Amino acid sequence: MKRAALAIAIVATLAAAPLALALGDAEKGEALHKSCLQCHNASQYQAPKAKVKTFKQLQQETAKWADYYHPKFDRLEVANLVAYLNRDFYRLPEQ
Ligand code: HEC
Repeated sequence: MKRAALAIAIVATLAAAPLALALGDAEKGEALHKSCLQCHNASQYQAPKAKVKTFKQLQQETAKWADYYHPKFDRLEVANLVAYLNRDFYRLPEQ
């Protein structure tokens, strides 16, 4: 019985992992975002300034700014930043 429960737990963890990767971790993104504040504050993400209208645009725009850094933010960090920006500001449907 214990074994079955463990097997279920492992399968559930593996199933959730790619999803978490795709969606990003907003908590980690929030920490990373501190370095973005050297140019603009969060008002950039809100009306009337915000131009981003779709989740894809948000990913592209975030990736563009992530490339500005040396070293660049990697894909996971970009996913985390996007998750944070979408959770706290944009609230766009993902795809
Ligand atoms: C070198 C200065 C600079 C840095 C650093 C910077 N940004 Fe920006 N960002 C800008 C400027 C300027 C704009 C407005 C560009 C425009 O209006 O076309 C902008 C716009 C954006 C937008 C689009 C907002 C919208 O809805 O129109 C997003 C999203 C964004 N930045 C995210 C980030 C993130 C995330 C980081 C950190 C990884 C970051 N930026 C770092 C200068 C910067």
